[in-house]
Amino acid sequence: MSARGAHRRTSITELLRSAVDGAEVTVTGWVKTSRFSKNVSFVHLYDGSSPATVQVVLKGTSEELNARLNIGAALKVQGTWVASVGGKQAWEIKPHDDGIEVVGDSDAAVYPLQKKRTSLENLRTMPHLRPRTNTFQSLFRVRHQVAFEIHRFFHERGFLWIHTPIITASDAEGAGEQFAVQSGPKPESFFGQKTFLTVSGQLEVEPFASAYTDVYTFGPTFRAENSHTPRHASEFWMIEPEMAFADLDDVIALAEEFVKTVGRATMEALPEDFVFFDKFVEKGLLDSLNAVLEADFARVTWHDAQDILASCGKTFEFPIGEGTHLQSEHERYLAEEHFKSPVFITHYPADQKPFYMFVNEGDKTVSAVDLIVPRVGELIGGSQREHRLDVLDRRMTEAGMDLEAYDWYRDLRRFGTTPHGGFGLGFERLLMWLTGMQNIRDVLPYPRVPGNTGFM
Ligand code: 4AD
Ligand code: MG
Repeated sequence: MSARGAHRRTSITELLRSAVDGAEVTVTGWVKTSRFSKNVSFVHLYDGSSPATVQVVLKGTSEELNARLNIGAALKVQGTWVASVGGKQAWEIKPHDDGIEVVGDSDAAVYPLQKKRTSLENLRTMPHLRPRTNTFQSLFRVRHQVAFEIHRFFHERGFLWIHTPIITASDAEGAGEQFAVQSGPKPESFFGQKTFLTVSGQLEVEPFASAYTDVYTFGPTFRAENSHTPRHASEFWMIEPEMAFADLDDVIALAEEFVKTVGRATMEALPEDFVFFDKFVEKGLLDSLNAVLEADFARVTWHDAQDILASCGKTFEFPIGEGTHLQSEHERYLAEEHFKSPVFITHYPADQKPFYMFVNEGDKTVSAVDLIVPRVGELIGGSQREHRLDVLDRRMTEAGMDLEAYDWYRDLRRFGTTPHGGFGLGFERLLMWLTGMQNIRDVLPYPRVPGNTGFM
């Protein structure tokens, strides 16, 4: 039971779990539906704590009050918890006389969310109201729970959460996709040098792995890539564990355990929300998630993946040839049709990956790993890191980087260097995979994508 101000209120979740017959209850929430008839009327309230509504049964209420019990109105109801005679719910509230307070009116004639379902596209035009709809009610409960399960996962395994900076001078991915931070007329006028919004906390978390062994960052990241796809956002959240004394196999093992543990725990915590997604968003979602969470993920090297793609007989928009970059159509073919499972692709050509990845014997490949999952594509990108100073310096020089500027990063290789590695997982992509939502704009509270006007 939770207290709000002077008046105790009980959440709908708490009521359904523990209220006993005849209990005195106070509920606050918003009208989802109301149905009026001559003798008895029904109002269903939601409060965000559960996909369930609570039914309030009205007898002999005034015309004046009834006219205010509109969809969207905010109510406080005091009454008795009683067994329901209606078929749909086991319990309902019988309000006391004067037990219904309209806290905030809502004019049904102009309320933008009416009873009938509206498209996700249309709901994107009202990010301030869509949290009130069934889909987004479930979605943001799941988003919260996944974040919580992520922290639990790492905490239980002794990983420290490190808050890496959002404003940075380094370009972790070397892809030149950074938003500049500027205050004043010149880019360097505030900090005395050029600064950017982070594209990844990896470089800044590595020093902490070199001091605490197992660490992670989990926070917002920003990319100024002009990708108009349902899987790219300009502002998204990333989870990045980093482990000292670890190689590529350790990174892969952690990634698989992470996805399975966090997925399973979230589904167990919010079973009704997952039933909703299974029913209304992606048919067969539960079966497919359950199957995946039980089975071993597949593994293939980039080289073998090329062979599979070249000989599979499928025509791709980007044909497979010498040194092809894997496109999302290739990745999805591998996960959805060939392996029919999440698949780790490893050992990418060195020239396709950033400077910090561990160079394998023969200098041709790096100990990189991407995890590709059905429906979503790339969920994780990670690697063992280059911990040998001479090799790192060579790679940075090849990439045209200023070694001086990264001297702090090179110090880690000078003093107590260890084989180490980690990965980055796109939080929104994980949510898409778990809920079946097909557009990243629909798993972010306020999506930021290129060309997005009408900010709020
Ligand atoms: O593969 P990426 O670029 O890897 C890194 O940034 C490494 N520094 C991570 C590490 O090793 N610590 O990004 C990691 C993941 C991708 O696999 C993808 O899931 C997600 O971040 N991601 C995006 N998600 C949404 N919108 C975008 N524009 C994204 N770009 C990457
Ligand atoms: Mg990547």
